Amino acid sequence: MIDSIEKYIQQIEAFASKDAKEIEEFRIQFLGKKGVFNQIMEGFKSVPPEQKKEFGQKANTLKNKAQEKIDQLKAQLDSNKESASQEDFTKSGIPLESGSMHPIALVRDKIIEIFSRIGFGLSDGPEIEDDWHNFTALNLPEFHPARDMQDTFFVEQNPDILLRTHTSSVQIRYMENHQPPFRILSPGRVFRNEDISARSHCMFHQIEGLYVAENVSFADLKQTLQYFTTELFGKSKIRLRPSYFPFTEPSAEIDVYWGLETPTDYKMTKGTGWLEIGGCGMIDPNVLSNVNIDPDVYSGFAFGVGVERIALLLYQIGDIRMYFENDQRFLAQFAKELNL
Ligand code: DAH
Repeated sequence: MIDSIEKYIQQIEAFASKDAKEIEEFRIQFLGKKGVFNQIMEGFKSVPPEQKKEFGQKANTLKNKAQEKIDQLKAQLDSNKESASQEDFTKSGIPLESGSMHPIALVRDKIIEIFSRIGFGLSDGPEIEDDWHNFTALNLPEFHPARDMQDTFFVEQNPDILLRTHTSSVQIRYMENHQPPFRILSPGRVFRNEDISARSHCMFHQIEGLYVAENVSFADLKQTLQYFTTELFGKSKIRLRPSYFPFTEPSAEIDVYWGLETPTDYKMTKGTGWLEIGGCGMIDPNVLSNVNIDPDVYSGFAFGVGVERIALLLYQIGDIRMYFENDQRFLAQFAKELNL
């Protein structure tokens, strides 16, 4: 009898488990109602008196050892749980990803910087415009067919309030409040009621340039634009292709000679080597009169370029939608500064 108690004690000492269920089974096996300890004690009566002392001691040892074992394993289990839920404050933190400038902002800032070197300041105007600043003052009176060149979003069916279709509206706002000479640049968002595709979008960015002083000539315009394309693209060959805008006379499209060195150049320029980046012209005398600037004393030039279009040329990204989807994988590719 005593021998079998001894064996049980060895069994208890050898037991190990990290499993709560196994530990509970162990407890039932040894200390439960019908467990080993109670069974042993039932046999106590039939133990010969001279062995009773030793038997009792052994039985007690078994009980204590089993209880100790259970307490020890349970404590271990609890401490494991605790450490699993506890933060390790010595670990290094989750790295903070630093953002980068949006490609449109990079290109815009670069253009602003290039013009600031030749004395152009900045001016802006509202995105929600009235008819006067977006159209009428720019020599586009009501029912003028050229209004159809730019499909307009009107605000709440009010034909007088609209989302500006071009940054040329800022020219008017600036000229209404300043007397020449001045030269300003107006970057901003513009809106047109157009389908969204790889090539067109209902919202995009333009930069308007305006220079008014005495004796400003078309040669000044061309030289300014040539300076600009040389600084921005490293391309100094430009062409001013005759065109029509109601607010300038004469008017021209600005083409840059991109070259035909690579297959991409062929594709981008449709085999011509030339790329259009915007429109320009000498400010129409009517426009100057509309803002109370005497066209007999002053003349000026204006131009408007598309920022997405220029970004496309610099980054070779042919789908305008990518600029507005805010896909982090796309945006993260742009450096903090545009090093050209
Ligand atoms: N506003 C024109 C457009 O959005 C671009 C433009 C053309 C602006 C000629 C000008 C200009 O200042 O002189 O298509």
